[in-house]
Amino acid sequence: MNMRKISQVLAGLSMLCALGAAMPVRAQVQADASLFHDLGGLPVIRQTVQDFVAAMLADPRIRHTFDGANLKRLEDKLVEQFCMLSGGGCAYTGDPMKEVHQGLKLTNADFNALVEDLQLAMDKNGISARTQNRLLALLAPMQRDTVTR
Ligand code: HEM
Repeated sequence: MNMRKISQVLAGLSMLCALGAAMPVRAQVQADASLFHDLGGLPVIRQTVQDFVAAMLADPRIRHTFDGANLKRLEDKLVEQFCMLSGGGCAYTGDPMKEVHQGLKLTNADFNALVEDLQLAMDKNGISARTQNRLLALLAPMQRDTVTR
């Protein structure tokens, strides 16, 4: 490769990096389907979400927040969301996180309880600690949209 080619390649690469930095986080994470694969695809995501919702409903710290909630819808939207975030190509058709949670007056303690319940569900479904952490890292930024007090 001559010097001109090399500098063209470098310019292309730096443009890609600039694009990556400017893209919203969600668009970047959607591009990587390896997490979806490592989670075990839709069958494992579906079972994990079912166990996750059951764990939250059995959790005295947060179960009261689900009184009157449409649990079937909640499960469906969580499956879509985890599939989308992990790069599985699903579309999330639920409401925006901020809108859904603002009336619930959730605390950081509520959020931490939810994370523990999700970890329990992922353990139960044989998802490795490394893969769990990759999903949790994608959910962490949502703390600011769900916790309002
Ligand atoms: C990363 C954090 C969270 C994520 C990704 C998440 C995700 C979701 C999704 C996808 C829905 C369904 C939206 C829809 O129906 O359109 C939902 C609803 C709900 N979430 Fe969360 N959530 C989070 C944090 C929490 C926390 C910390 C709690 C309470 C401890 C909670 C309690 C609820 C309840 C009660 C509903 C049902 C609301 C209703 O049906 O009116 N969420 N959440």
